Amino acid sequence: MTDGTDTKSSNQMWGGRFASGPAAIMEEINASIGFDKKLFAQDIRGSIAHASMLAHQGIISTEDKDKIVHGLNTILSEIESGNFEFSRRLEDIHMNVEARLATLIGPAAGRLHTARSRNDQVALDFRLWVKEELQKCEQALTELIAAFLDRAEEHAETVMPGFTHLQTAQPVTFGHHCMAYVEMFGRDRSRVRHAIEHMDESPIGAAALAGTGFPIDRHMTAKSLGFREPTRNSIDTVSDRDFALEFLSIAAIAGMHLSRLAEEIVIWSTPQFGFVRLSDAFSTGSSIMPQKKNPDAAELVRAKTGRINGSLVALLTIMKGLPLAYSKDMQEDKEQVFDAAESLELAIAAMTGMMRDMTINTERMKAAAGSGYSTATDLADWLVREAGLPFRDAHHVTGRAVALAESKSCELAQLSLEELQAIHPAITDKIFDVLTVEASVASRKSFGGTAPSEVRKQIAFWRARN
Ligand code: ARG
Repeated sequence: MTDGTDTKSSNQMWGGRFASGPAAIMEEINASIGFDKKLFAQDIRGSIAHASMLAHQGIISTEDKDKIVHGLNTILSEIESGNFEFSRRLEDIHMNVEARLATLIGPAAGRLHTARSRNDQVALDFRLWVKEELQKCEQALTELIAAFLDRAEEHAETVMPGFTHLQTAQPVTFGHHCMAYVEMFGRDRSRVRHAIEHMDESPIGAAALAGTGFPIDRHMTAKSLGFREPTRNSIDTVSDRDFALEFLSIAAIAGMHLSRLAEEIVIWSTPQFGFVRLSDAFSTGSSIMPQKKNPDAAELVRAKTGRINGSLVALLTIMKGLPLAYSKDMQEDKEQVFDAAESLELAIAAMTGMMRDMTINTERMKAAAGSGYSTATDLADWLVREAGLPFRDAHHVTGRAVALAESKSCELAQLSLEELQAIHPAITDKIFDVLTVEASVASRKSFGGTAPSEVRKQIAFWRARN
């Protein structure tokens, strides 16, 4: 047992009150340095801004500030070049940096923590990190959208089956299908932009939870750290992590979109569908079955969504029911966000590459579009338009035509005019104009419809805003 003066084994930062060093297990459960070292650049940036403000306000001297800033920059290059020894005993990134600063510059280091707490410090570091991550996501989504726009343009006329229930429904164009994803990823990107705006407030200066008696200037630090303004309530500032949850929610929704695309690619690349062929870069062979080309990247994108969802639920659960203000539970926020961010970045990048690289088998798509009576609705619509039938009657007549084609194992367009007229006398040979898949898609000119002319309008709309 120690006599209370054993400062060697007690924590250097808050060791004054503690008689002995933390039990090994305490150190292990308490330390976050293993993962929060990722925040080193944000931590140092935040400290430089804080020290500069303290000097500007006359709270510390300019000489001390200069030493602090110089020391922090030295630490930054030490960490960046891999010449920094992180210590678990010093718990987290904040205390690792500060302890090193003390070694480098001596007593002036002790002035850096004036008018702040690790509570506002970590809120700042993490917010800066999440904000930068959101900016990266915005860029990555823009590149993904660009890849889809290029494919959509190239395939504005390529006919494929549109599905509901994964059953052939009506012909659509591949360009139109691509543009569906542009809409999804475009909304994901709007959510990202909105989240950046939402979280664009600086936490530093909230101190432990109540603010500080020192004459700090939070507007100055907010500005120098690139935030729109300081947060308005010190208790809220150190106790909420909704910005991290917003990131995770956005990531989960984007992940869900990516997983649907991934699933489609898995289906489309099967020999049974044969709609697309993945490039070698985004598929693997089998070690035993030489004919195989597996869509591993798509499968992994599909799986990453599960991890992201897990992170969202984990952090929601960590935060649920926590009393204000800071509790150590909140230290568990970072790994969830880091893991989800890595998964999302990878998934978006892999999908961008896959979309750009894959070969579209337009013949297979077209053949599939024509099978399964996909133009039955066109026949019914024609009866309404040209023969004046109520839609319900037209639907019934069309059903009979489909049944006849089915019994003859042929397509609708292969029925003879006589056969069709036997089903309904108003049918003329003009009907054959709408029974082809090309005619079907070309006719769907309603706003947002699948006609190539409409799809091109939407491509132009997105090109202008991407
Ligand atoms: N490592 C801590 C975290 O990530 C930093 C804040 C610690 N604050 C405290 N009062 N113990 O949350």
